[in-house]
Amino acid sequence: EKGGWSSFMAKEISEEPEAVANTILGRVHDGQVVIPELDGLDELFAGISRIVIVGAGTAAYSAFVGKYAIEQWARIPVEVELAHEFRYRDPLVGPDVLVISISQSGETMDTLMAVKEATRLGAKTLSICNTQGATIPRESDAVVYLHAGPEVAVASTKAFVAQITGLYLFALHVARIRGTVTPELQADAIQELADLPDKIRWILENEQERIEQLAHWMADTRSVLFLGRHVGYPIALEGALKLKEISYIHAEGFAAGELKHGPIALVEPGLPVFVVVPSPSGAPVLHAKVVSNIQEIRARGARVIAIAEAGDAAVLPHADEVLRIPLAGPLFEPILAVVPLHIFAMGLANAKGLDVDQPRNLAKSVTVE
Ligand code: M6R
Repeated sequence: EKGGWSSFMAKEISEEPEAVANTILGRVHDGQVVIPELDGLDELFAGISRIVIVGAGTAAYSAFVGKYAIEQWARIPVEVELAHEFRYRDPLVGPDVLVISISQSGETMDTLMAVKEATRLGAKTLSICNTQGATIPRESDAVVYLHAGPEVAVASTKAFVAQITGLYLFALHVARIRGTVTPELQADAIQELADLPDKIRWILENEQERIEQLAHWMADTRSVLFLGRHVGYPIALEGALKLKEISYIHAEGFAAGELKHGPIALVEPGLPVFVVVPSPSGAPVLHAKVVSNIQEIRARGARVIAIAEAGDAAVLPHADEVLRIPLAGPLFEPILAVVPLHIFAMGLANAKGLDVDQPRNLAKSVTVE
């Protein structure tokens, strides 16, 4: 079933454009986001005072990105919590809280137990899931399926971009009900979402080969850091997780602003550091801050690989390599910025001759606590 691909991971990365497109399909009506599965829940969404999103691993990182969009558009406070932490700390949730679980497989035991605990405490539960009929959606009050298609490789790729897309659609659906976004903003956001598949294709067509080449050159690397700010921060965490998971290289993701509070001590000559650079036009303040973070680590000899908007000239003099992504609004950039990181992790595992689909010690779905 791999088709002509060398691995399921390669196939699934190539399917990232369709994963986003299929998640949007059937959920835009008359210029507004309407998720048919959430029909009848308007009163619930109008009344909740807080949202808690639970998940594990990559799913939890998509939740971190989703938090920014839900808070910005729907104006509801969102907490993201690792499912296994939520479950065992007597969480403060009740009938005014919506607990959203996010899971590709719908079978992750940690996440399932968190959903059960939320239900026991009287919260309403919504599952955002990629696998039809799985246990977590069956245990939840409502479900939004992602339609990214089956994901086989242990490393989650296309499900991640679909998860963020699903959370954004949910944010716009709730924002419509609560009247917190103007029709213009809805229309802009919908256009941005609709444009993502082609922009991901652009990365695959124009940058994939170069990224794989870079990974090949870096096959002997022992440690890699990933930095990002705002929505780029969870992307840095995702880039690091993917690299650890399939290439067994020590990798850590940080919020760029945290550097001077400790991690900068790790920087030594030659250390590769991936930096997710915000758009200079869409987020000029964040962009300037990240460029100054790059200067700080470069001054200490780091080898900077920037993931930046094509046309961002300001970053060029400061980076050793620039992996380009198309222009997108600040909230939409993470769905593009993660693609080079997925390609890089796969490229490095391939360069080391590892089994990218079946990394050691890991299972596709973790059905034990
Ligand atoms: O099936 P789920 O989305 O619930 O899985 C959660 C994590 O186990 C999963 O995302 C894991 O971190 C991936 N292997 C990361 O690539």
